[in-house]
Amino acid sequence: MNIMVVGGGGREHAIIKKLRENKEIETIYALPGNGGIAADARCVPVSATDIAGICSFAQSHSIDYAVVAPDDPLVLGAVDELAKLGIPSFGPCKNAAIIEGSKVFSKNLMKKYAIPTAEYEVFSDMEQALAYIESCPIPTVIKADGLALGKGVIIAQTREEAKDAVRSMMQDKIFGESGSNIVIEEFLTGPEVSVLSFTDGKTVVPMVSSMDHKRALDNDEGLNTGGMGTVAPNPYYTKEIAEQCMKEIFMPTIAAMNAEGRTFKGCLYFGLMLTPKGPKVIEYNCRFGDPETQVVLPLLESDLLTVMQATTNGTLADTEIKFSDKSACCVIMASEGYPKKYEKGFAIEIPAETADSVYVAGAVLEKGVLKTSGGRVLGVTATADTLSQAIDEAYNKVKTVRFANAYYRKDIGKKAMEAK
Ligand code: AMP
Ligand code: GLY
Repeated sequence: MNIMVVGGGGREHAIIKKLRENKEIETIYALPGNGGIAADARCVPVSATDIAGICSFAQSHSIDYAVVAPDDPLVLGAVDELAKLGIPSFGPCKNAAIIEGSKVFSKNLMKKYAIPTAEYEVFSDMEQALAYIESCPIPTVIKADGLALGKGVIIAQTREEAKDAVRSMMQDKIFGESGSNIVIEEFLTGPEVSVLSFTDGKTVVPMVSSMDHKRALDNDEGLNTGGMGTVAPNPYYTKEIAEQCMKEIFMPTIAAMNAEGRTFKGCLYFGLMLTPKGPKVIEYNCRFGDPETQVVLPLLESDLLTVMQATTNGTLADTEIKFSDKSACCVIMASEGYPKKYEKGFAIEIPAETADSVYVAGAVLEKGVLKTSGGRVLGVTATADTLSQAIDEAYNKVKTVRFANAYYRKDIGKKAMEAK
């Protein structure tokens, strides 16, 4: 079989490494992949948003199954276009990917189907949004409607900050057209949990829960990033809460999407906050989370390709999906300065005994030397019987990976340990 994975980050590397356990797969192509992924797949210089390029590559290379991993190609309709060529894919169609592509859509969906989420108002007129801020509860949360590289959320601690956020989105268009419509919502508190799930539009199978660490600095300080580390499972997410989420959030979301004629297949990611009033949805993603995937997939014991194909074929109910009861910790090694300015082009040394545990996100191969090329450079994951061991082992492995200007948080998993 020939498989094509669209995307080129740590998430895609984790997907590819897991797929490689299936010996029936002959070739895995990564579009575009990266310098580190090149060790595990054939990287092809086609951008993840070049839908026509992706389709013509798939056709000319007899691709049997495609995995569309990032949000942009899903929202642009890559799965639909591949289907027109008879190529089955993992991921939702365009009309279902909107659950991530438009916050206005997802908030209205949750309201219509009584799925617990923060109270909110939608604005397309800046003056009305500014007037609303005069009397809304503070802190408040301002969200751009469309995709904004995961940066379209501003938590405002004062009315002035909230107004600045509205102006920057609606007038200065810091997130481009994504900010033409905005959502202003209630500020929620409580531990955050990421639950990725496999779904074929009928059955939903939650994967092991996880916890992201979005801020750049220790103790959840500093700027928001694409994620500085993850642990799984998330100890705040108890069996009782999981059952409640299945009943009040997961199944109702699948049913709501069906009722809207937008059946969702692929990985549906529930970003949850466990508030004093129960679990609420902070966001949906139409794809695997990054870096959640780097702790969740190492704990998957079943064959990933079989599970993915079952989501496409609608046979998930008949497919065994087993996760190990171990724990995992992933520490992201970034370039000093990320998410602001950083230097790149530094050689990366990964000892052979650590290579299996490394998922590369931002690196290029130059004359056979792997060099840093991005803010988040790579993730190092360890799995162990207990969370505490997984954390220790991940940090021990991190110490064996070397590149100039490397930066990583020292407290990944600390909050999770406090829950125990
Ligand atoms: P998102 O880009 O939607 O994942 O949001 C980024 C982060 O903002 C989330 O992980 C939360 O930590 C925070 N956030 C988003 N919405 C809210 C909310 N309504 N209340 C409190 N924090 C929020
Ligand atoms: N880790 C959050 C995301 O993938 O959006």
